[in-house]
Amino acid sequence: MAHPLHLTITVEVVASEADLTPAEAVTWQAARAATNHSYAPYSRFHVGAALLLDDGTIFRGTNQENAAFPSGLCAERTALFGLAAAHPERRILGMAVAARPATGDFVPITSCGACRQVMAEYEHRQNQAIPLLLPGPDGSIYRFRSLSDLLPFGFSADDLPG
Ligand code: THU
Repeated sequence: MAHPLHLTITVEVVASEADLTPAEAVTWQAARAATNHSYAPYSRFHVGAALLLDDGTIFRGTNQENAAFPSGLCAERTALFGLAAAHPERRILGMAVAARPATGDFVPITSCGACRQVMAEYEHRQNQAIPLLLPGPDGSIYRFRSLSDLLPFGFSADDLPG
């Protein structure tokens, strides 16, 4: 016997930046601005991530590349690791990611698998869902309710024995 298990992830497609809440718009703009501080001389693909914190401030991350390619890190993880190292007491209320080639306009992006695992960890750690904004097609913005929505069937601390 077998039966299907249907998973439902609700993503709102926001038509444009004008339709974001004020707090979302600040986070969104910060992610876009952060791409200017990306260090991506090899891929020339500049990624920015922004975290809206519970004190109203924004913490930024950018991709950091390296001549030894695997030593680089994505924007999402520099943001989350950087925050956890510098301000571990802060809660994250929202996250946004933006990307653009060195020459050219912003493009849609979705986070890589390793970043999804890390995103899920920090959400789990603070025991509070973190909404996520990702750029979609034609200027739209995907509004996810939770970082963990990017990682169905993800492994977490709950799966560890003891
Ligand atoms: N990158 C990110 O920073 N975030 C993503 O979600 C996908 C990829 C970076 C890694 C590398 O520096 C460049 O983009 C090209 O893969």
